[in-house]
Amino acid sequence: MCGIVGYIGNREAFPVLINGLKKLEYRGYDSAGVALLNGSLEVFKQKGKVADLESFAAAKNPAGSIGIGHTRWATHGIPSDENSHPHQSMNGYFTVVHNGIVENYAQLKSDLTAHGYRFVSETDTEVLACLFEFFYTQNSGNSAEAAVQLALSKVVGAYGIAVLCSSEKDKIIAARKGSPLVIGLGTGEYFVASDASPIAEFTSHVVYLNDYDLVVLQRSNFTLKNIENNPVSLTVSSLEDRIGETEKGDFDHFMLKEIFEQPQTIEETFKGRLNPGYSEIVLGGLQNVFPRIVDARRIIIIGCGTSWHAALIAEYLLEEYARIPVEVEYASEFRYRKPVIYKDDVVILISQSGETADTLAALRLAKNEGALVLGICNVVGSSLARETEAGVYTHAGVEIGVASTKAFTAQMTVLTLFALKLAKEKSTISAKEFDVLVKELAEIPEKGRVILQQNHRIQEIAAKYKDAVNALYLGRGCLFPVALEGALKLKEISYIHAEGYAAGEMKHGPIALVDDNLPVVVVAPQDAFYEKIVSNIQEIKARKGNVIAIISEGDSGLGELADDLIEIPGSQPALAPLLAVLPLQLLAYHIAVLRGCNVDQPRNLAKSVTVE
Ligand code: G6P
Repeated sequence: MCGIVGYIGNREAFPVLINGLKKLEYRGYDSAGVALLNGSLEVFKQKGKVADLESFAAAKNPAGSIGIGHTRWATHGIPSDENSHPHQSMNGYFTVVHNGIVENYAQLKSDLTAHGYRFVSETDTEVLACLFEFFYTQNSGNSAEAAVQLALSKVVGAYGIAVLCSSEKDKIIAARKGSPLVIGLGTGEYFVASDASPIAEFTSHVVYLNDYDLVVLQRSNFTLKNIENNPVSLTVSSLEDRIGETEKGDFDHFMLKEIFEQPQTIEETFKGRLNPGYSEIVLGGLQNVFPRIVDARRIIIIGCGTSWHAALIAEYLLEEYARIPVEVEYASEFRYRKPVIYKDDVVILISQSGETADTLAALRLAKNEGALVLGICNVVGSSLARETEAGVYTHAGVEIGVASTKAFTAQMTVLTLFALKLAKEKSTISAKEFDVLVKELAEIPEKGRVILQQNHRIQEIAAKYKDAVNALYLGRGCLFPVALEGALKLKEISYIHAEGYAAGEMKHGPIALVDDNLPVVVVAPQDAFYEKIVSNIQEIKARKGNVIAIISEGDSGLGELADDLIEIPGSQPALAPLLAVLPLQLLAYHIAVLRGCNVDQPRNLAKSVTVE
């Protein structure tokens, strides 16, 4: 987690760094800091948000055209001023911002302590800064760059770092292993950041660093090599112009904006992938590997958080239509449990950011075992996109809200397209069924707009339940993962304890929780499970639970039974998750707002979990 930004050029660095940090704040917001080189070196840092740092530092007239900045998600040490980045080495030679975890920091710290080093913070980053200084001062022939290389060769763990050296001014050294870094190439100026969002307004030419790359940025040139000092080949990539997406517009929060963008983002995701007559699905990124997918023994889908829920929905669709066995795995479990992987397995990694540490580790494991590894990912040029053999971008645009919404529906759209295409290629779906599904998929954006018009009604329902302590979400079939996602949204942003359950499991435990204080959200459209889920609702009502039912438009049957109803337009059951999740997102959003929670930046969370 944590966000890093650095600038060297002729502009004032402070505004570049602060604006950059605001765009990276989704990665963590426990504390923030900047270091500026202006003859001497000045560090401004404190616990709290970037906006607090901005006013605190602005009052002290920060100046300088070289600087590094950091927004933190705490790993080693509590959120505090002392533990905020940038960190400096004991004698002030090195100033460092760091994303990642130095796993052998305790050993390195005790070695440095034996050499007389003393530490003011609890962080692994301060140990790194001191290690740089140790190698720098130990041998006067070592340049700052050589000292950083030597130190990094001793480090076990992950790092994305930007480093200033007080006796080699006019340069920023940056390096990565396991934590993403991208370099922006301007004219007479360079940028470094954890992702391209702080860079995009200045230049569209970027270089994504690979593991073990090290770059030295100076005003008029830069050098790229690896930490063993060998040259590495340089690939300059181009950024898409998506700057406007990082503004809230008329919405109170990014999350609400992103919820409302979904009809459009779903459309963006299938646009160009459904041919005009809807008779074919084109997934360009998979074209070369599709024969291998058709011949696969099974599909394993891996993700974390909301991406894992998208994977669960895909399991239903792939097994039903493409008749292929599917396993869904949490990346953090898969990577450590010696999974059996066959060479004719297809392993699909799903990640909005493409930088989730566990998902990347699972990718590498599956790749080493010889499986075909595919990515479904939102961030162009991310580690996942670069390390998978083939894949599909979700085209949801930049997602700022920490709780994922539009990235989820875009993932589901891609997975639906993938399942239907595979079914067609394997002839496991009839032409008629394929036709109906793709035509209905094209109608989903319009149906989504109809649901979003109920925003005000959902806000009223939220007001009734905002003080709940617990909540239960139930669904069946491919709407069971939607119940999981609804519960996750609520707990992430409102801090109400919420559980998602397969409705058929209700009597095996969760029913014990039901009383007149418990809101139970039941996803109950008129599908093959309708009668069964109506029985579940009756069982909840018999125990005085409060039922909020997500029902099919025009279903009068549940009016008497449920306490609150939210209608969604009818659809093929396989497409219902794309619709049913929208009211659940809005319900969680309004409850969180009414409770006074910070919906875009919920406590303790970060958008991109780049440490395991
Ligand atoms: C974090 C985010 C979630 C996200 C999950 C997986 O927990 O807060 O919103 O679903 O990571 O992230 P990924 O980028 O891999 O989809």
